[in-house]
Amino acid sequence: MKIKSILFVCLGNICRSPLAEGIAKKYVEEKGLKIEIDSAGTGSWHIGNSPCENSIIVAEQNGIDIMEQTSRQVEKEDFEKFDLVVGLDSSNVQNLKNLGCKDPLKLGDFGFNGEDVPDPYFFEDFEGFDKVFNMIDICVKNLINERV
Ligand code: 4NP
Repeated sequence: MKIKSILFVCLGNICRSPLAEGIAKKYVEEKGLKIEIDSAGTGSWHIGNSPCENSIIVAEQNGIDIMEQTSRQVEKEDFEKFDLVVGLDSSNVQNLKNLGCKDPLKLGDFGFNGEDVPDPYFFEDFEGFDKVFNMIDICVKNLINERV
């Protein structure tokens, strides 16, 4: 199947999946690919909110603007609409399965031996965001190179 769309899913859609969306959009554009990229959260707490401040900062430091993104909750229609649905950690993948997504992928399987991308929402400081960014950056690019 020719992959034309990818949805990245975390819990709140304010820290991790917005980074995945921003990184993927920039990368497919650089490669001249026409792929629809989006992100969503399984939770509803942050619907309509901007990405968290530290994600905006770490993205900006890496030349990516995610400021215009707004959080949304994943919907069942997404599972029909998107060719690939990718969870950022194993609980996201399990939540997706519970919601009826048949074959969600896990981002950490594309370069980090299936590791979970750590949830940085409760991180005390900015430091952990660099690690989260690098992990997402490597895995998103590997995913696109392997699957698109
Ligand atoms: P994210 O981080 O899933 O990477 O967007 C979180 C954001 C919000 C919450 C948990 C994780 N929350 O509990 O509100």
